[in-house]
Amino acid sequence: MNVMIIGGAGFMGSNFTRFLVNNYNDIKILVYDKLTYAGRIENLKGVMDKITFVRGDVANEEFLEYIVRTFQPSVIVNFAAETHVDRSINEPASFMRTNIYGVFSLLEVIRRVEVPLYVHISTDEVYGDLAGIDAYADECWPLNPSSPYSASKASGDLLIKAYGRTYGVRYRIVRPCNNYGPYQHPEKLIPRTIVRILHGMPATIYGDGMQVRDWLYVEDFCRALALIIEKGGDYEVYNVCANQFATVKRIVERIVELMGRDPSKDVIHVSSRPGEDRRYAMKCEKLRGLGWRPLVGLEEGLARTIRWYLDNEWWWKPLVDETYVLADEPWGTRK
Ligand SMILES: NC(=O)c1ccc[n+]([C@@H]2O[C@H](COP(=O)([O-])OP(=O)(O)OC[C@H]3O[C@@H](n4cnc5c(N)ncnc54)[C@H](O)[C@@H]3O)[C@@H](O)[C@H]2O)c1
Repeated sequence: MNVMIIGGAGFMGSNFTRFLVNNYNDIKILVYDKLTYAGRIENLKGVMDKITFVRGDVANEEFLEYIVRTFQPSVIVNFAAETHVDRSINEPASFMRTNIYGVFSLLEVIRRVEVPLYVHISTDEVYGDLAGIDAYADECWPLNPSSPYSASKASGDLLIKAYGRTYGVRYRIVRPCNNYGPYQHPEKLIPRTIVRILHGMPATIYGDGMQVRDWLYVEDFCRALALIIEKGGDYEVYNVCANQFATVKRIVERIVELMGRDPSKDVIHVSSRPGEDRRYAMKCEKLRGLGWRPLVGLEEGLARTIRWYLDNEWWWKPLVDETYVLADEPWGTRK
């Protein structure tokens, strides 16, 4: 079986590539990635000799088509996206290009080359803010995005549904909650908190920190995705959630405690991110019906993640040179 992983040099894509290499003998993997600031060959350490890597842009239709025709994948899994909400507030154009036009380019290639299956990584953020509603979004919940990032992801999902219906492109859309774990860029909340503490800086909380998120250890996500590819249904959407809800404040304070520091001294509140959603919450009964459940609890997942960043300074050190990464209020630091 040939599996093509687009965006496989980013956080989740590289974890999934490593998961496939370690758990399946009978597949050939090609990772196709533009290597933006978020994608790095270093993320594929230990597996580069077992895969084929091609540097390319998902929105470069001609080159993408050449690679797909040459590799002949049975399935394409697409992680490629601009993913950081702070950046989407400052510079939304690249989000539209990759997350909408890139998906469109890929769909055009898939229908022309007749790729058997397209698995698209979307996000829980497409459902928008569920604050004040005592509800959990199932896969039929209306899309109601709040940020340029989530609007671009929702647009990608809609294009895929249209290509399924109009051209018969076989797809599965996967909507994960917040993932965390090794190889996550230090601009994101959990690694950013760890790295700030390691720099002797206070951890920051946006606004009151009462934003509720569901936290999934990335290895559990990889198992879920493999199962959806193996046993999921075509033209279906799958939410992937952990049912481990915690506020941003709780997460930050717990990391500070686990790192032996005092949350009353080593945490500061900064202004809220514009338009920030207060609560994401999904139901995942469809995925549970396939036999999946998360195995790594939040406490264990946080401890494992802190350990990984402590042991892998070589990996994150070059990334924090950009002032933006550790700025107190990143959305104010760029035009
Ligand atoms: N991390 C999370 O908590 C989370 C939660 C829900 C959904 N998601 C979704 O999962 C996917 C992966 O997220 P992540 O956190 O691993 O992202 P990431 O930012 O770590 O990695 C994105 C990868 O895509 C690549 N890329 C970007 N633009 C590209 C382009 N035009 N062509 C080819 N490659 C390109 C980057 O080089 C990078 O390797 C995204 O689609 C994201 O929307 C992430």
